[in-house]
Amino acid sequence: MTENTEKQTDFGFRRVPLGDKQAMVDDVFHSVAKRYDLMNDLMSGGLHRAWKEALVSAVNPPRAKRRNARPDVRSRPFALLDLAGGTGDVALRVAEAGDSSVRITVADINAEMLKVGRDRADQAGRDIDFIEANAEALPLPDRSFDVVTIAFGIRNVPRIERALAEAHRVLKIGGRFLCLEFSSIDIPGLDRLYDLYSFNVIPALGRAVTGDAESYRYLVESIRKFPKPPVFAGMMSDAGFRRVSFQRLTGGVVALHSGWRL
Ligand SMILES: C[S@@+](CC[C@H](N)C(=O)[O-])C[C@H]1O[C@@H](n2cnc3c(N)ncnc32)[C@H](O)[C@@H]1O
Repeated sequence: MTENTEKQTDFGFRRVPLGDKQAMVDDVFHSVAKRYDLMNDLMSGGLHRAWKEALVSAVNPPRAKRRNARPDVRSRPFALLDLAGGTGDVALRVAEAGDSSVRITVADINAEMLKVGRDRADQAGRDIDFIEANAEALPLPDRSFDVVTIAFGIRNVPRIERALAEAHRVLKIGGRFLCLEFSSIDIPGLDRLYDLYSFNVIPALGRAVTGDAESYRYLVESIRKFPKPPVFAGMMSDAGFRRVSFQRLTGGVVALHSGWRL
């Protein structure tokens, strides 16, 4: 009898071979790419905008100066990498908040999501680099970014520890890593309501808007499987980040994690 020694991982509530997960995740985002931004608004009642604005505040890009202000001779490019940046939603918000010294790179493994992002950036007249890349093995030099962000992306990456190590590697010394991710509700009563909504309404909405309930069932299940904030904070520390902290938003629906490369 041969023992099955292949490593397994979670794909939502299913256990699947680790080597199969990325292709399954890619199918999800191929399927939903064109309606991805609309679904975010519908599913969260627009709340994802506020969560992303909290992320942008933490990124704190150099802001446009008041008119007539003296030019800042020290101003140097501020480089942001948005990992698993998909349709460019976070990148566009940072570009909007920052001044002309802000350089943004969006990296995502999914060409369909990136295409939506490129079109959005073109329409907005924003010069943003979109690159097709796996967060586990970035084709980017060491110590090249001031801030690395990842929003609602890390739980989809099969080997989270590799993505964290890569984020750490490409950050400059003194740079900051920020991760926005769904979390676990910490208000009694609200958790039951949230479960009812997530497992019943979201897949049905997914079916109505994208014709694909399964992808949205995976999204809901993957949220439940993601490590709780203190555990994820430990993973960040193991990857080398320092001054690791997190902040729960909207009763714990999401958490904003922060760590520095020092
Ligand atoms: C839920 S979307 C988040 C998109 C965007 N950050 C946002 O907040 O709107 C997750 C994204 O992670 C990307 N992704 C999944 N696995 C990845 C990997 N290994 N490397 C890079 N991107 C990945 C998907 O293609 C998808 O665009």
